[in-house]
Amino acid sequence: MPFDTPAAVVRHESLNRDHFLLTLESPSIARAARAGQFVMLQTRDGTDPLLRRPMSIFRVLPGRSGRFQILYKVVGRGTRYLAGQPVGARLATLGPLGNGFRLPPAGTRPVLVSGGIGIAIFPFLVETLAKTRRRAPVLVYGARTKGDLAALGFFRAQRVPVRLATEDGSVGVRGFVTRLLEPLLAAPEEAAQLELFVCGPTPMLQAVAALAARAGAPCQLALESQMPCGIGVCLGCVVRCPGDDQGPMFRRVCTEGPVFRATEVLL
Ligand SMILES: Cc1cc2nc3c(=O)[nH]c(=O)nc-3n(C[C@H](O)[C@H](O)[C@H](O)COP(=O)(O)OP(=O)(O)OC[C@H]3O[C@@H](n4cnc5c(N)ncnc54)[C@H](O)[C@@H]3O)c2cc1C
Ligand code: FES
Repeated sequence: MPFDTPAAVVRHESLNRDHFLLTLESPSIARAARAGQFVMLQTRDGTDPLLRRPMSIFRVLPGRSGRFQILYKVVGRGTRYLAGQPVGARLATLGPLGNGFRLPPAGTRPVLVSGGIGIAIFPFLVETLAKTRRRAPVLVYGARTKGDLAALGFFRAQRVPVRLATEDGSVGVRGFVTRLLEPLLAAPEEAAQLELFVCGPTPMLQAVAALAARAGAPCQLALESQMPCGIGVCLGCVVRCPGDDQGPMFRRVCTEGPVFRATEVLL
């Protein structure tokens, strides 16, 4: 059951030119949230922009503070307004929403695969895996350039092994994350003990899902789409899924997702 609350901005940090870490206080949302879920956030008072923006829950802070964090990148009007919100502002926030990740079986090694701002979904998953005594994950993280990599300090502090790829070669291997994944998935016996958790742009999801299918590794994809309502009403977020003789089926990313098994969707 989601809550619609005015969440107070208790901290708002600029990480670099266009990445921000926002700490919000809403005990009801913080208590109910699970890794992989998101909130719909009003980026400023009034009706412009009218629609709230979907943002993954980056972390729920420990203790009883009722605080959670959002990591976001400024890409347009809504996120630009959000970046101007001062400490003390109250932002209408609806959540937690969506299904979240399914945790892997205890012996399985989670491989987190992130493209760009897709990284925002993973810190909560890393902490949940540790709390539930799952195997420690490895992070495979790709971006256009070094300046687009965010939150590396979190993963290093959690001792998560990190493998990096940038398209311009400014850090890590030059190219896409798939270059890092291919060797990991090359040996079938090892691939069968892995599970991939993937978030990033659609071409990356397609490429990683294809690699996982070839290797026989289970794979969960966190999808992004336009989300006018976030609660399953408007059908503005649907994704095509395998259907039957009548044709493909459609599912709502906001309620049946945002996380789907790679075999459940047609990207
Ligand atoms: C489940 C989910 C989780 C996400 N998590 C994160 C995250 O953690 N961090 C992050 O940086 N980004 C995240 N995103 C992406 C983020 O929501 C977009 O970058 C953001 O909405 C862009 O808003 P904007 O106004 O700045 O961009 P704009 O470029 O102004 O908006 C994009 C375009 O889409 C339209 N539009 C914007 N929002 C909506 C909407 N809700 N419904 C319909 N049309 C819309 C605008 O009118 C515009 O045409 C997530 C997306 C999803 C679906
Ligand atoms: S965003 Fe409206 S149904 Fe999904």
